[in-house]
Amino acid sequence: MQKNENKNMFKASWTYDKAPESTDHVQIKKEYELYINGKFTKPVKGKYFDTINPSTNKKIASVAEATSEDVDIAVKAARKAFKGWSSLSGKERGKYIFRIARLIQERAREFAVIESLDGGKPIKESRDIDIPLAANHFFYYAGWADKLEYAFPNRKPEPLGVVGQIIPWNFPLLMAAWKLAPALATGNTVVLKPAETTPLTALKLAEIIHDSGIPKGVVNIITGAGETGASIVNHPDVDKIAFTGSTGVGKYISNAVAGTNKSVTLELGGKGANIIFEDAAIDQAVEGIVNAIFYNQGHVCCAGSRLFIQESVADVVIQKLKDRMETLIVGDPLDKNTDVGAINSKKQLQIIENYIKIGINEGGDIYQSSCNLPKSGNWCAPTLFLNVSQSHKIVQEEIFGPVLAVQTFRTISEVIEKANNTPYGLSAGVWTNNGAKIFHLTERLEAGVIWANTFNKFDAASPFGGYKESGYGREGGMQGLNPYVKFD
Ligand code: NAI
Ligand code: MG
Repeated sequence: MQKNENKNMFKASWTYDKAPESTDHVQIKKEYELYINGKFTKPVKGKYFDTINPSTNKKIASVAEATSEDVDIAVKAARKAFKGWSSLSGKERGKYIFRIARLIQERAREFAVIESLDGGKPIKESRDIDIPLAANHFFYYAGWADKLEYAFPNRKPEPLGVVGQIIPWNFPLLMAAWKLAPALATGNTVVLKPAETTPLTALKLAEIIHDSGIPKGVVNIITGAGETGASIVNHPDVDKIAFTGSTGVGKYISNAVAGTNKSVTLELGGKGANIIFEDAAIDQAVEGIVNAIFYNQGHVCCAGSRLFIQESVADVVIQKLKDRMETLIVGDPLDKNTDVGAINSKKQLQIIENYIKIGINEGGDIYQSSCNLPKSGNWCAPTLFLNVSQSHKIVQEEIFGPVLAVQTFRTISEVIEKANNTPYGLSAGVWTNNGAKIFHLTERLEAGVIWANTFNKFDAASPFGGYKESGYGREGGMQGLNPYVKFD
């Protein structure tokens, strides 16, 4: 592991575990409360939980645990705010959303450091990808707020009402932005819950939302784990649930709302196929493979976790991939040189390690980069499995870690069949020099997002979402407005 050469980069000196008070640029409090009705308030039952730094497994701060009583107060606040907010002109709503976007930009460094501390992702990803994309998302939907009549020509879109939003730990601030921005632009009010391992950037966002002057109760941000999420899902006065997370919880939510008037969008897991043809630019493809599976430690629902290489180039691609894996720096998320950070939680590390065991027991050939892993914290070396087939568990199931299953193919029809042989349908990637081949595949691959000669590229203007067990509904783009409106 390389040491951070530029310790002054954020002037934070990383003393969060000794002095959890302010530093020059990064303020982390000892205790965080719930943001309800425009105020930071203590939870009714007075319960708190710890959020942990996954690269040390040390506590960062105490965070309020909202119970059903708090959820009820938050939903009532959102209901009360709905009439005023939804009757503002789109232009007025847009002003607040633009302000939130600008405030995220102004405090981008602080957000990036907190995101990496709380969740374990490399600072270069938080700084260059997550936080800028989160700001972009607010800018993008702020722009739609006064143009809804163009998004829905000759129809009059109405907001749904109070929206419950439950988000995961892999892109904490970005998922908050994906959820909040379109809901607010269309005139809904919100109760949002971040994941229990990564609540801090959503709470920082609550401060910014407060500073934006948005009317009280329009956005409520409450923290807690699954039980808190379930209280939002089951609250009778919530009109819609938007969820991103595991397929298991997604199924729970669709059962829980069945027979109610609630509408639901679910963005669930994936097992993306990344397909390398013999005519691809091989070096770029190898970079693309690395980015597809090792980006954000593989905690990516649209990760390219199944690699398919055309047989004639398999040996060269695999050798280059192994060489490239050796150069990946695994370690301190706050080090600007780090490529692969900490696994988000002990629980997630156990899930990944268990899959690695299964892969070995099923007869896969494992290759792991020979990096030195730090002594404390949650770490997993970049890993690939050769000699696996469609029936292997590590080929079928989402691992959500830096573990790649590699297979080869001869013909296009063979790879299409293999790529589609999964319960999921979120993402895929195609690497080839041949444009016609790209279109041939994009028509036949069952995936919501298909990248050509790139992978894991996101843009606020581009819709994102899945088929089959990857969920339903789209986020991003004009299509991302649909789940938040209704028509008479
Ligand atoms: P999870 O689905 O339990 O957590 C996601 C969010 O749902 C969190 O905010 C959590 O507090 C909330 N939640 C949990 N139970 C709930 C319930 N009954 N009702 C309402 N909300 C509830 O995901 P978990 O357990 O952290 O990760 C397990 C696996 O899920 C991962 O290994 C990965 O395969 C998958 N996952 C997929 C994600 C994606 O982006 N598609 C994100 C996170 C996890
Ligand atoms: Mg944490």
